[in-house]
Amino acid sequence: SIPESVTIVEVGPRDGLQNEKEIVPTAVKVELIKMLVSSGLPVVEATSFVSPKWIPQLADAKDVVSAIQGIVGSRCPVLTPNLKGFEAAVSAGAKEVAIFAAASESFSQSNINCSIKDSLARYRDVALAASNLSIPIRGYISCVVGCPVEGAIPPSQVVYVAQELLNMGCTEISLGDTIGVGTPGTVIPMLQAVLEVVPIEKLAVHFHDTYGQALSNILISLQMGIRTIDSSVSGLGGCPYAKGASGNVATEDVVYMLNGLGVKTNVDLRKLIYCLQTLSTGVFVKCNGIVKNMLVVG
Ligand code: HMG
Ligand code: MG
Repeated sequence: SIPESVTIVEVGPRDGLQNEKEIVPTAVKVELIKMLVSSGLPVVEATSFVSPKWIPQLADAKDVVSAIQGIVGSRCPVLTPNLKGFEAAVSAGAKEVAIFAAASESFSQSNINCSIKDSLARYRDVALAASNLSIPIRGYISCVVGCPVEGAIPPSQVVYVAQELLNMGCTEISLGDTIGVGTPGTVIPMLQAVLEVVPIEKLAVHFHDTYGQALSNILISLQMGIRTIDSSVSGLGGCPYAKGASGNVATEDVVYMLNGLGVKTNVDLRKLIYCLQTLSTGVFVKCNGIVKNMLVVG
């Protein structure tokens, strides 16, 4: 059986735009977030407080978060890689944050420039600071089934990181198939292993569509009882470390499937598509990457 309702975590403004070549103007990002919120998405991840040298696309994080203060109806978390990012996020007005570890040592090095162990030590400080302010904190794990450098990742490695994130107080753990290599054949054993240590209501899944496996992987996750699904409007995003990898699973595809299954999401598919059409003919026109993606839907 599958859950009656699912929480969709929209990651387009963050995971999508961090990977687009074009730098999207702040006002356009803010407009995108507002439209996503108005389509009924309960969680819209807004941006990241990371180093602007590493991710110039999100260098305006402070302005984006300031501009979306007062939005009601959706939670708008942001990514924070360290205390510096956490403090900047809180000063800008962020009410929820996310930290991001990896199940692959090589990916940890290339993404956040440190080992898994060092990243967990850093995240413990962020988690403590968040707990002191009663700020909910999500923990991501990247490369849960495969890594562009190391190949297959054993479930035990994901379990280890999940347990650490849980112990430091993460309120939710999102399992990311960052390069989209998973199939139900690898995802099921990984989920079974993680479910031994993480309660199901704290788990989210985050699939990429590189080999067209995302919806199959989501369906089996639902069948295993998972109720939180990450997705990105129009499938925005990709992975800088996997050339040719396509983006996150598209939110509109996930909502369409869930509607077909009779699973409640609170998302109005028509409003979501209207939002894409408006953006593809309006403010997004100058951002080639985005228009290309939006037109698929529009
Ligand atoms: P580093 O270079 O090792 O850090 O970067 P550092 O502590 O040596 O600092 C170097 C410089 O960065 C210093 O500035 C710091 O002040 C600055 P300088 O003195 O040279 O002028 N700095 C910062 N600036 C702004 N905000 C900060 C910050 N921290 C340091 N928070 C660091 C380490 C982690 C900062 C860097 O590697 C980084 O920002 N990485 C983020 C990369 C990223 O965002 N990747 C994508 C997100 S994760 C993901 O895609 C997976 C996920 O989506 C799931 C999935 O899809 O599967 C979650
Ligand atoms: Mg992603």
